[in-house]
Amino acid sequence: MTEYMQIFLGTSFSSKSPKEIQILENHLYCINTDGMIEKIVSPEEPDYQTLLATYQGQDNFHRLAEGQYFLPGFIDLHVHAPQWAQSGTALDIPLYDWLNTYTFPLESKFSDLDFAKKVYDDVVDTLLANGTTTALYFATVHKEASLLLAQICADKGQRGLVGKVVMDDPQGNPEYYRDTDTDTALKDTEEFILAVKELAKSTKQGVYPVVTPRFIPSCTNEALQGLGDLSAKYDTHIQSHCSESDWAHGYVQERFQKNDAFALHDFGLLRDKSVMAHCNFLEEDDVELFAETGTAIAHCPISNAYFANSVIPIAHFHSKGVEIGLGSDISGGFSPSLFDNIRQAVMSSRMLEDGVNPSLPAQERGLLGSRIKIDEAFYLATAGGGKSLSLPIGRILEGYTWDVQIIDTQIPSARLPIFDGNEDLHDIFQKMMYLARPENIREVWVQGEKVHSR
Ligand code: GUN
Ligand code: FE
Repeated sequence: MTEYMQIFLGTSFSSKSPKEIQILENHLYCINTDGMIEKIVSPEEPDYQTLLATYQGQDNFHRLAEGQYFLPGFIDLHVHAPQWAQSGTALDIPLYDWLNTYTFPLESKFSDLDFAKKVYDDVVDTLLANGTTTALYFATVHKEASLLLAQICADKGQRGLVGKVVMDDPQGNPEYYRDTDTDTALKDTEEFILAVKELAKSTKQGVYPVVTPRFIPSCTNEALQGLGDLSAKYDTHIQSHCSESDWAHGYVQERFQKNDAFALHDFGLLRDKSVMAHCNFLEEDDVELFAETGTAIAHCPISNAYFANSVIPIAHFHSKGVEIGLGSDISGGFSPSLFDNIRQAVMSSRMLEDGVNPSLPAQERGLLGSRIKIDEAFYLATAGGGKSLSLPIGRILEGYTWDVQIIDTQIPSARLPIFDGNEDLHDIFQKMMYLARPENIREVWVQGEKVHSR
């Protein structure tokens, strides 16, 4: 019989499709030495009893207690790690002013590696404790501090995809916070890519370098083209902000007489491994370009309420075949929790569907067909994120990584309202989605290794 590194027994929830969840009741999950799910065995299969007899009682056999469930670890597709230091504050002014008043001054402090270490240690711990097993991070313009973030992810066992941010245009960025010049920005990016690829060799879960033009307003054409070339040369992920607010979207239209999507595409920045944050103002041909190139959207519903001047039509973009995942956008979004963002994604979509101006008649107020259900928001936070990154993550399925969170619905300080011993598992799932808090997350595993417990 095959030897497994770990065996888990319990009930799991995972996405079957964007709109439907799959529930595996009391299944066995057999994890190999690479931390991958090699086999999932249902209680009806003959192997089940054999495996139980072999592994039960051993240290590597883990049976969930009553009231505990497996969920896939969350995939946060858009986090500004340095901005964790101002999370919960500074949400009172629009994007352009927010960047210049609060955010650029804060990010400029990450030239100091001691300060960077304090914030980055804490943000990675916090995200893990909130069930986030994979995160796509913006760091800052500083190469060394960006590398430190990748190192911290490597050490703590989180699957971090990290970008050294490029902001090279003297016209678009303050003198105290930008790349020295375009050549230096590209050279630093190339050195960063090579260093993270080297670091990745010593990790089990993987860490990845990400080509990261902050957004078009921060970058010269030469930098954008150079970054497109670097991502092709090293086959890296790419991230940026795209058509986020009236101001940012309008700036690009004025500079290029086209929308962000086509402008980014001209520089080789839309490809299968690209993830673009926000994308609220995509038009139909932009959406088609995203679908054709395999570019994904990082939907950041909490942040959007403050900075995007609109609610993004997620249901419509999803129906056009665009890959979509969920992002916290710390600190444009105040919460490090993708549970909170799942809830907001559903609520925002309802407000888009019904409309928000009560002085309009009901039939003119909203956009019909805009609502998404909780199962679809859960998909965005898990399987949709995995698909967006082209990695085998975000599902509890053979061939995927063992990246899971164990939710305990019976913690005395955070008990979920489950009173019927035979409550329908779909209802238990919805209660977890809407009511789970960090206290309910008992353990978090990445690539078959325990990285958090409480
Ligand atoms: N656009 C450019 N930079 C940022 C940022 O840090 N946060 C958000 N939300 N939008 C941006
Ligand atoms: Fe952002």
